[in-house]
Amino acid sequence: MDIYLDNAATTPIAPEVIETMLDVLKNNFGNPSSSHVFGRNAKALLENARRTIAKSINCTPSEITFTSGGTEADNMALRCAVEQLNVKHIITSYLEHHAVLHTIEYLQKIFNIKVSYVECDEKGNINLDHLSELLQTEHKTLVSLMHANNEIGTYLPLKEVSRLCKQNQALFHSDTVQSIGHIPFNTNELDVDFITCSAHKLHGPKGVGFLYVNKRNRIQAFIQGGSQERGLRSGTENTASIVGMSKAIELITDDLAQKIDKVWELKKHMMNLLKQHIPSVLFNGETSLDKSLYTILNCSFPSSKNDGMLLFSLDLKGIACSGGSACTSGANTGSHVLRALKADTTRQSIRFSFSHYTTKEDIVNTVNYLSELF
Ligand SMILES: Cc1ncc(COP(=O)(O)O)c(C=O)c1O
Repeated sequence: MDIYLDNAATTPIAPEVIETMLDVLKNNFGNPSSSHVFGRNAKALLENARRTIAKSINCTPSEITFTSGGTEADNMALRCAVEQLNVKHIITSYLEHHAVLHTIEYLQKIFNIKVSYVECDEKGNINLDHLSELLQTEHKTLVSLMHANNEIGTYLPLKEVSRLCKQNQALFHSDTVQSIGHIPFNTNELDVDFITCSAHKLHGPKGVGFLYVNKRNRIQAFIQGGSQERGLRSGTENTASIVGMSKAIELITDDLAQKIDKVWELKKHMMNLLKQHIPSVLFNGETSLDKSLYTILNCSFPSSKNDGMLLFSLDLKGIACSGGSACTSGANTGSHVLRALKADTTRQSIRFSFSHYTTKEDIVNTVNYLSELF
């Protein structure tokens, strides 16, 4: 039995994306900066991909900068805000991904900026009154709060936070790595300054993503060199992966409402089956469709004979899921998000995350196996 329920860590690449990338690798190896026909062809593919991606979030192509993924895009937004846009104060939360938290800690140490952490409730909802209070400051401020939490799925109310930021002349960065492609996005309506994307979270390749920078913010080079990406991010572009990312975005946003319905039904089914078979199960974070990302379900199980071995037992059975974020390079320090939520540490938490490739059978088999363990 091989069941993949760890789509928040990474998703399988869509077969159509692999085909598209193979075609680029075979037939378009030119350097997009070369002026001859090989270069021009590669450049055309790159700019086509930029237009497709820009259209998918309703922005202009020049607001998209290709990066090596979500981590680099988050680093670029935060570092450019401090180093180039004169930000002296960052408001964030303890629930952020380490790509954000560790970058902010670095900026605090090197540039001596002020950092404030906004309060949240036990389900991961940000306290908007506290955010308003923190925004009453004379320092130039950046708010960095993620859209959908990668461990528990709880959403940030993006529009409200964006409105608060504008009212207080603060910049707003949101790590949207888990949500871009999975819900409709319209940067025109949202009025954010920076958002980030990673292709491998939406059935694209690893090692590629993008940063959206609202055109009102004039930033300069983040990586120095040959001045690719309009001088912002030097380095020969990874044409095949960028084209693969654009194909993945096209595919996932096609019939998105239907995909959302399908995955949401799976999540609801898993919650219902778990409650039937393991009545003491609890869920970390919000679980409703309007308050949390439908691809993530974080379950908290009672203490059992399997204490500490739950993930291992599931793995032995061929069921892949996770104890939290996969991006901590094997560090087994427990989840900083669940710690921040003051979750009961005597219970065992497991994150199951789904995609439109997940089947009902995957869910049923997983719950059947889990119910044998409790
Ligand atoms: C919310 C969030 N931000 C950033 C990242 C980092 O993205 P990447 O793996 O592309 O560096 C991840 C990856 O797990 C994530 O979930």
